Amino acid sequence: MKYSAQKGTKDILPSEIHNWQRAEKIFAEVCHSFGYEEIRIPTFEQTDLFARGVGDTTDVVTKEMYTFEDKGGRSITLRPEGTAGVVRSFIENGMTSLPLPVRMFYNITAFRYEKMQKGRYREFHQFGLESFGAKGPDIDAEIISVVDVFFKKMGLKNIGLHINSIGCPNCRNEYNKLLKDYFRPHLAEMCEDCQARFEKNPLRMIDCKIDGGKDVVKNAPRLIDHLCDECKEHFEGLKARLEAIGIEYTIDPNIVRGLDYYTRTVFEFVSENVGTQGTICGGGRYDGLVGLMDGPETPGIGFAMGVERLLLEAEAQGVLEEKPSYVRIYIASMSENARIEALKLCNKLRLEGIGCETDMAGRSFKAQMKYAGKSGVPFLAVIGDDELANGEVKIKDMAEHTETPVKLDDFVEYCSQNIV
Ligand code: HAM
Repeated sequence: MKYSAQKGTKDILPSEIHNWQRAEKIFAEVCHSFGYEEIRIPTFEQTDLFARGVGDTTDVVTKEMYTFEDKGGRSITLRPEGTAGVVRSFIENGMTSLPLPVRMFYNITAFRYEKMQKGRYREFHQFGLESFGAKGPDIDAEIISVVDVFFKKMGLKNIGLHINSIGCPNCRNEYNKLLKDYFRPHLAEMCEDCQARFEKNPLRMIDCKIDGGKDVVKNAPRLIDHLCDECKEHFEGLKARLEAIGIEYTIDPNIVRGLDYYTRTVFEFVSENVGTQGTICGGGRYDGLVGLMDGPETPGIGFAMGVERLLLEAEAQGVLEEKPSYVRIYIASMSENARIEALKLCNKLRLEGIGCETDMAGRSFKAQMKYAGKSGVPFLAVIGDDELANGEVKIKDMAEHTETPVKLDDFVEYCSQNIV
């Protein structure tokens, strides 16, 4: 029987992993530089956490969750995103009593049963962060700045930032009434999902994947034109801060985001290089979520970035890096005694943190040389009985085609100074 990876899942191969590791390292460093600390949350949670947290009118909850019953009869869901789990952990672990804001970042896999296409998978990875307890627009600007600094450190340019405000429950209630009056005469032309959303959450109709392109949706009243005074002030505050830091943005009244918990600020970083959806990173404020999950009312804000999409963008912008040579030197041996000496040297080199390799496959000397040449290792040393007798080996620089004689006793020191 021939097995293949499940639809929508992907192996990340040794030939590409270095770019993932580089991005992970840069993301962690940038988060640390803003005072965010890493949190690791479980891959699965009780289904209700997402139904309640993410929202039961969202596509994610109604159509895309990997939900199953475990052997104990519990309804379990593989996390479709990280925010709900981080909020649960924030409340459950008593972090609500820590000095605020509590800032946490994460690097997770997430699972959504979606139609596979470029940049869209069923198992994917997210870098994200959440910040709890800060109400004003300073923190909104801070988290956008995290993404901005991260992109710069990755060498990425020109990824457009789109921002919007979707108001608070007060202005949203008023707006929902307006939206319902607007959509009511057109309801018959709308898709089944929108007809259900009309009653439960009319705002969701604005970013419908089926009706979204229709004029009736495009011409709908915009929430940004109906914000209450506090929400307007918050949004103006964010704009002023982004301008002060020098982060360019476009106001995009059509961003409503696909998850129900958002209030006020929502934003997306978009690019044409990452598939039809175009969103590399999305986030926003969720001032009601901690309360909704039975925690003390605490404002929150965060974002998540699709790592597959980030790397598609890095590839399109030509900033992916060459695979580094972890193995710096290959030690070829010409006799049984030399094999043992090579093993000893390798052991010492590795204790010094120097990557090295010697033959493990029982190859002839000629085959070892061929293997070393093909592997692209930057340095080569050859040990035979003569070298053992003289106590000296030659280290060859494969790119420069030069050879340096080195005493066996000085071998490790020479390598640590010259080949790493
Ligand atoms: P989201 O917009 O659903 O937000 O996802 C964030 C990012 O994850 C997207 O912009 C995209 O890059 C990536 N993504 C989503 N679905 C897929 C997929 N099927 N395949 C590949 N990449 C995907 C959230 O998840 C929120 N939890 C973000 C957040 C955190 N808001 C506040 N805090």
